[in-house]
Amino acid sequence: MTHKGKSNLAEVSPPSLEGRLSLFSKGGKDVFSKAHDLVEADMARQMGIYPYYLPIDRNEGPVAIIDGKEVIMLGSNNYLGLTIHPEVREAAVQAIRDYGTSMTGSRLLNGTSKLHQELEGDLAEFFGKEASLVFTTGYQANLGVISALINEGAALVMDKGDHASIYDAARLSKGEARGYKHNDLADLSQVLESINSETGKLVIVDGVFSMEGDVVDLPGVERVVHKAGARLAVDDAHGVGILGPGGRGTAHHFGLQDKIDLMIGTFSKTLASIGGFVAGEAKVVDFIRHFGRSILFSASLPPASTAAAKKALEILKREPERVERVNQNGRYMRENLKSLGFDIGVSETPIVPIVVGDEILALTIWRELLDNGIYVNAVLYPAVQRDRALLRTSYTSEHTREHLDLALEIFAKMKKKHGW
Ligand SMILES: Cc1ncc(COP(=O)(O)O)c(C=O)c1O
Repeated sequence: MTHKGKSNLAEVSPPSLEGRLSLFSKGGKDVFSKAHDLVEADMARQMGIYPYYLPIDRNEGPVAIIDGKEVIMLGSNNYLGLTIHPEVREAAVQAIRDYGTSMTGSRLLNGTSKLHQELEGDLAEFFGKEASLVFTTGYQANLGVISALINEGAALVMDKGDHASIYDAARLSKGEARGYKHNDLADLSQVLESINSETGKLVIVDGVFSMEGDVVDLPGVERVVHKAGARLAVDDAHGVGILGPGGRGTAHHFGLQDKIDLMIGTFSKTLASIGGFVAGEAKVVDFIRHFGRSILFSASLPPASTAAAKKALEILKREPERVERVNQNGRYMRENLKSLGFDIGVSETPIVPIVVGDEILALTIWRELLDNGIYVNAVLYPAVQRDRALLRTSYTSEHTREHLDLALEIFAKMKKKHGW
C-alpha cells in the first residue's frame, strides 16, 4: 500500500499493513496530511480484521460478552480475576460514597486522600520497602520516577524490550538515554562502561516482559548494575500477582528484593484497578514526590480506583492460592500450546504469545478466533519486532480447565486451517 493520496483499497494486492510505518516520521506542510494518508486502519476494517478498540459489553473475568456473545477472555491482565470480586466492587462503591468521584486536583495540592496514604503504606509493607508513592497510572509512575531522577547529569539505561512508557519517560527526561539488547548482560555491561564514570546511572528493566511473557535475568542484571555502581529499578507491572512468594513479584522471586533500588508497578493488572506506584528508600520516594512531573501536573488517582487497588492487595495477601492457580493455568497452556507445535517464544509466565509472523495472517486468525468464541490480543510492530506479529494470550486464576481445553481445541483448528 502506498501513501500517494488516498489509495484505492481495491488495488491493494497482496494486502499489507507495512505502509503505515512511513507515517511515523512523515513530514509535510500540513500536520494533518499523515492522518489523511493513513489507509491501513480502514483497509483492516473493510476486511473485517481490525482488532482494536473493540467494545466489550460486559466483562465477567474469565469470560466476556462481546456483541451479545460470550467469549473466553484470553486477552486481559486480570490475572487473579479480582476486577469482579464482590469485595473489590464494594470497596470502590464505598469510596465514592465517602469521597465522591474525583479529588479534582494533583496529589501535590488538593488531590491526596487518606486512602492514597493508606495504600502507600500497604504497598511499602507488602514489597518490603521503606516507602511508596501512588500515581494515577503505571505509565505515569514511569514518567514520574524517570523524569525526576534522570536530570542533565544522569543517564537512563534500559532493556530494549522495556515497556513503551519507559521509552516515553526517557524522552521526557533531560539526561542521556541508552538501550541494551534484550536480556543481554554483555551488552548491558558495555553500555554502562561507555557512559562517563561521573554520570549517575539508573538501569530499568521490566520484571516480566509484557508482550512475550519472558522474565528478566534479574540475578545477572543486578550483578552487572551494582558492579558498575549504578542503581536498579524494576517495572514489575506483570510480575506482581504472578511471581514470587505470595505474588510479591520478580525481585522476591529471585530473592533479590533488598538489592533492587526501586520497584515500580501498576494497579491495572493483578490489582484490578488503574493507577501505579513506586516503592523504595523513603528519601528517594520523597524526592520523586516533589520532582516527578506526572505526579505534579496531573490529577490524582480517583477514590474508587484507590479503594479497589487497596482491597485487591488485601485479597492477594489473604488468598495466595490465586497466585498458585494462575501459574498452574499458565503452565498448562504453555505445555499444551508447545506440544501442538506453536512457537510461544520463551514465555515462562501466564502471558503466552502465539507467534504468527505475518501481520495480515495474525489479524485474520484473530478474527476467526473471535468468531469461534476466543478473545486474544493481536500485537503488531512496533509493540513487537518486525515480522513477529503475534497473538498475545494471557490466563487468569479464574479460567477453568474447560475454558482452557476449549481454547486449545480452537487454536489447534486454526493451526490446521492456516498451517503457520
Ligand atoms: C511493563 C509495563 N509498565 C507499565 C505499564 C503501564 O501501566 P498502566 O496501564 O497502569 O498505565 C504497562 C501496561 O501495559 C506495562 O506492561
